[in-house]
Amino acid sequence: MSGEEAPTQQQQPEQEKKPDEPPPAASDAPQEPGSSPAAAEEKPLSCRALVLTGYGGYDKVRLQVKTQSQPQLKAGEVLVRVKACGLNFAELLGRQGLYEMLPAPPVTMGMEGSGVIEAVGEDVKDRKVGDRVITLSRSGMWQEVVVVSADHTFPMPEQMSFEEGAALPVNYITAYMMLFEMANVRPGKSILIHMAAGGVGIAATQLCKTVQDVTVFGTASASKHETIAQGGVTHPIDYRTKDYVEEIRKINPKGVDIVLDPLGGSDTQKGFSLLKPLGTLIVFGAANCVTGQKKNLLAMAKTWYNQLSLNTLKLMQANKAVCGFHLGYITDEELISRCMFKLLELYRQGKIKPRIDSCYHFEEVTDAMRRMHERQNIGKVILLPEPKKQEEKPKSNAEPGENVEKSEVSEKKEEATEEVKAEKD
Ligand SMILES: NC(=O)c1ccc[n+]([C@@H]2O[C@H](COP(=O)([O-])OP(=O)(O)OC[C@H]3O[C@@H](n4cnc5c(N)ncnc54)[C@H](OP(=O)(O)O)[C@@H]3O)[C@@H](O)[C@H]2O)c1
Repeated sequence: MSGEEAPTQQQQPEQEKKPDEPPPAASDAPQEPGSSPAAAEEKPLSCRALVLTGYGGYDKVRLQVKTQSQPQLKAGEVLVRVKACGLNFAELLGRQGLYEMLPAPPVTMGMEGSGVIEAVGEDVKDRKVGDRVITLSRSGMWQEVVVVSADHTFPMPEQMSFEEGAALPVNYITAYMMLFEMANVRPGKSILIHMAAGGVGIAATQLCKTVQDVTVFGTASASKHETIAQGGVTHPIDYRTKDYVEEIRKINPKGVDIVLDPLGGSDTQKGFSLLKPLGTLIVFGAANCVTGQKKNLLAMAKTWYNQLSLNTLKLMQANKAVCGFHLGYITDEELISRCMFKLLELYRQGKIKPRIDSCYHFEEVTDAMRRMHERQNIGKVILLPEPKKQEEKPKSNAEPGENVEKSEVSEKKEEATEEVKAEKD
């Protein structure tokens, strides 16, 4: 350990001593295309990373400083200095041990980010040092520097901020593929979007607006209705105080053409019942399992027990389609790349724009996760690798007076950084 700051939190001995993946690192000076940063210097690098150290509550995600040797870029790889990362609902699930795509702890979390290329490996033709890129990965993005395949990077439009870049991939690819590849949304259709003020909800609403005369019913807390209505939700519904099925039937007695269901359990049954003939229900989450920072076995059992159960004969007689979508299981990289390039084009045309709810430095990750668990966010919550300056306030779109309280853990953030010596790969 080479400590500027001594670890103050309880350590889980052996586990935290191991890096979760080949250690990425950045060179201090920009490299020429084709050069390896390892050749430049031999001195070890340190890299701040948010590491899941075990399953459970907020305290399981810790800010660590990994000390590591300079990486050797393989052919086709680039080294990116990360400027902003997305926080996804899947990471809340992952922290609770409910996201099967996340490798076992200790693991650096993070599926998406944006940054600047600092070095490129051999055979990288279409990326160069200094390019601003978005990058997507199964895990490992919540750190200052990452080594990724150049194929997993996407050049950012000039006018796009790093925060917007980090907010785009997971939410917009998910929304785009569900709406245009699965549900085939067309002019005149009606759709129910749950969690309409969340990252995917806002992305789906914006994408619906690219098609003429689509009626959007969106469920969200009442305080968020004005914002989501401005964003394109035709009929915001407060699911906390009203029965959304009744509310929709008052306006559309026949129901809707498409339901996007990230909730699961009894809401999937309601969604299926709301479909018009030839309608499509897409199940893409089980947020009803999550009620707070810790795993809730009762909520999980209830969601599982109430899930939609169908046989194919009943489905045929209903004239309805039921689909499932999970971005983590899409292994066709060409499909993802094609979708990303379409989304970047829509951004350039001004048709989509990620709504950033708030930005938190790595030290404040607890506050960021709490904001989502406590259902305060409208749009995307972003994590910033850059250390927080003493006087800086949280960057947030929160309404004045809204609760963005500091947690006990984040109040101790100055001491909360742990030092970990990463092993050589
Ligand atoms: N299958 C896939 O590939 C895929 C990809 C991305 C996301 N997803 C799923 O899509 C859903 C939305 O993700 P997101 O990133 O858009 O979420 P998000 O931005 O974190 O949305 C959070 C908002 O959703 C509402 N909400 C409803 N139930 C909630 C709950 N149990 N816990 C916390 N918030 C809840 C809250 O607002 P209100 O209370 O005001 O409504 C909250 O502010 C999640 O279920 C996620 O797992 C699936």
